[in-house]
Amino acid sequence: MAPPPLLLAFFLVFACFAETGFAIIYFSSLQRSLVVTASHPQPLLKAGEDKITVTWGLNQSFLAGTDSAYKTIKVQLCYAPISQVDRAWRKTHDNLSKDKTCQFKIVKRAYTTTNQTSEWTIERDVPAATYFVRAYALDAEDQEVAYGQTTNLFEIQAITGRHVSLDIASICFSAFSIVSLMGFFFAEKTKGRKAQQ
Ligand SMILES: *[C@@H]1O[C@H](CO)[C@@H](O)[C@H](O)[C@H]1NC(C)=O
Ligand SMILES: *[C@@H]1O[C@H](CO)[C@@H](O)[C@H](O)[C@H]1NC(C)=O
Ligand SMILES: *[C@@H]1O[C@H](CO)[C@@H](O)[C@H](O)[C@H]1NC(C)=O
Repeated sequence: MAPPPLLLAFFLVFACFAETGFAIIYFSSLQRSLVVTASHPQPLLKAGEDKITVTWGLNQSFLAGTDSAYKTIKVQLCYAPISQVDRAWRKTHDNLSKDKTCQFKIVKRAYTTTNQTSEWTIERDVPAATYFVRAYALDAEDQEVAYGQTTNLFEIQAITGRHVSLDIASICFSAFSIVSLMGFFFAEKTKGRKAQQ
């Protein structure tokens, strides 16, 4: 008996999804063909303030054509092992859809055969920890096919006490606004009363 067309359609759709959306990629299966470097002004960086300059390109000891499937480069900020200890929410998984090592996007850009550079100001919500930078090469289906990462680690400091004084300043400013608003309100009221008389 031939399978009912509906069932056949279902299998076709399922097969398509299996092909694209649900492919399981293992980090250990990726080729380390990219060279990534990150430079920064000092070893201890401040979130929301300091900049990192990331450079990436193909490792020239790989054969020409290694990068033929590379379409996009995704550069991310990743937790170093020392900052993952006892923190399940930063845990490394070989199954990339479960991996939590790299949680901050630095840049995503079309792949070129020449080295590329990007400057990134560390976002304010980046927690204090030790990090490295990793770049993934993605194919036309936006799936990871290769990677590269920095060998040096660096430390990011969270927003510090300097911002506390900024917060105090903003509280004072708010208080001042309320007082002046009240002053304005009373002035208007008095004016209104005078006009009535
Ligand atoms: C380039 O690749 C070769 C071979 O895998 C490796 O030995 C070398 O360390 C890589 N170079 C860099 C700068 O990562
Ligand atoms: C990899 O992760 C995905 C998404 O969480 C899951 O569906 C899949 O079963 C995992 N594969 C393995 C082999 O753990
Ligand atoms: C790209 O960067 C690598 C590693 O930093 C360097 O060895 C290579 O000469 C650079 N290539 C070009 C074309 O600048």
